[in-house]
Amino acid sequence: MKIEQVFKNNQDWIQGKLKTNANFFNDLGKGQSPELLYIGCSDSRVTAEDLMGMGPGEVFVHRNIANMVISIDLNVMSVVDYAVEHLKVNHVVVCGHYACGGVKAAMQSADLGILNPWLRNIRDVYRLHKKELDAIENEDKKYDRLVELNVQEQCVNLIKTAAVQKAYRDRNLKVYGWVFDVHSGKLIDLKIDFEGILRNIMEIYHLD
Ligand code: CO
Repeated sequence: MKIEQVFKNNQDWIQGKLKTNANFFNDLGKGQSPELLYIGCSDSRVTAEDLMGMGPGEVFVHRNIANMVISIDLNVMSVVDYAVEHLKVNHVVVCGHYACGGVKAAMQSADLGILNPWLRNIRDVYRLHKKELDAIENEDKKYDRLVELNVQEQCVNLIKTAAVQKAYRDRNLKVYGWVFDVHSGKLIDLKIDFEGILRNIMEIYHLD
């Protein structure tokens, strides 16, 4: 791949956008009011807007290795705070994906240096759901299930934040857990029990 190609692609992209809407970039320059915050994996195959059929201005995006929501990660916490408190999004999505390298790495024992503390959070998800996961004999199925449980736990982490609790109370903001199946392109709604989780964790994590 030649890096110059990127700029050529960009020119083609501009022309394409202008063909369908001559004011496209004028409108884009006026500001953003996305309705959805998407937290996904950095994996190159899982392309956020593209897989949802959405475009510029429609989604506020945060991506990191294995779509983690870690309470002391200033990066993800700032994104959540800004999207929920300032942009007033009403939908927050954690989107994991099957065949996630981050989740795979957390299932294996290896010293991966700076990645260790990051992956430890996924190992914690395994520990939390050890009984269920250990009962799955097929390694691929176990791997898929850990991807799903990791999404669910990151949703729980979102619900622990004051911003999400407050926005739920004030305007009924919802948190969703999805998985992208890289083998079929399908987006799967895990249908996490948002209100059930909220009720459960409020006993301990109530902030607002
Ligand atoms: Co991944």
